[in-house]
Amino acid sequence: MARGNQEKRRWLKWFLAAVILMGMMLFFYYVYPQRGIGPEQPISFSHRVHAGVKAINCRFCHPFVERSEHAGLPEMEKCFFCHQYIIPTHPEILKEKEYFDRGRPVPWVRIFYVPDFVKFRHQPHLLWGKLDCADCHGRVEEMDRLQKKDFQMKFCIDCHKQKKAQLDCWLACHR
Ligand code: HEC
Ligand code: HEC
Ligand code: HEC
Ligand code: HEC
Repeated sequence: MARGNQEKRRWLKWFLAAVILMGMMLFFYYVYPQRGIGPEQPISFSHRVHAGVKAINCRFCHPFVERSEHAGLPEMEKCFFCHQYIIPTHPEILKEKEYFDRGRPVPWVRIFYVPDFVKFRHQPHLLWGKLDCADCHGRVEEMDRLQKKDFQMKFCIDCHKQKKAQLDCWLACHR
């Protein structure tokens, strides 16, 4: 009788341990990636390596950030400026080369966007507002994969209040 109980308790312990382990696995598989790092990209490009470790200026790859409505993603030519010589046979670089040779732009997953009816321009924020990329995008140079950050209206308004920028949003921000 006593032995049967002991056996049961042992099974219960194993069962609980298995449930906890499963829970942890599910957490790391589903929840963690969404919190910790951004979505997987077609090429595992890392901002941490390029903008962080190698300290390449943001504007080298995003040169239109002050000049046009869209900061723009770098053209593939730009990657081969360096990768023609640097790790040219790395599997991810070979993937990039395949896109390049076929003349097909890399289908990067977009991370930051505002809806079409919102008028946002980088230029006044950088030139007049004296803001840094990190004020809105976070510390990109520390991220391997960029993380999504929702630009809800509150995000715009909170900073505009704090910095005493214009709040006349229906006129200025909505098309
Ligand atoms: C100014 C030079 C430069 C440019 C431009 C550049 N890279 Fe790199 N890239 C590097 C250096 C340096 C490394 C590190 C190489 C090493 O670890 O030996 C690197 C590493 C990488 C790696 C390997 C990362 C890893 O996990 O170790 C990938 C993939 C990559 N680059 C993709 C790109 C893509 C895509 C572009 C274009 C959008 C690009 N690079 C533009 C210099 C550059
Ligand atoms: C070597 C080139 C390179 C450098 C340097 C670089 N970027 Fe990028 N950036 C890219 C590429 C390629 C993508 C598209 C892939 C991705 O989202 O990771 C991108 C995407 C982005 C995006 C997301 C666009 C979107 O909504 O999908 C932001 C924001 C950004 N970069 C900001 C920065 C900032 C801030 C810096 C400087 C701290 C910087 N980048 C430096 C190449 C670069
Ligand atoms: C005041 C906040 C703010 C600052 C500061 C800022 N950005 Fe952005 N950025 C945004 C918003 C909002 C979007 C989405 C725009 C859209 O969907 O049209 C964006 C989009 C982008 C994109 C995606 C591509 C594109 O053309 O839309 C890149 C790349 C980017 N920013 C780079 C930068 C860099 C580099 C800096 C610093 C030099 C910077 N941003 C500073 C708010 C900001
Ligand atoms: C981190 C702070 C910050 C955030 C976040 C921010 N702004 Fe601004 N914004 C400013 C500042 C500062 C100025 C004022 C620049 C000046 O006129 O001196 C400004 C100016 C503007 C202007 C007037 C200039 C122009 O383009 O005509 C518009 C419109 C605007 N912001 C829209 C937005 C929208 C839309 C968002 C959200 C996607 C946003 N801002 C997020 C700080 C911010």
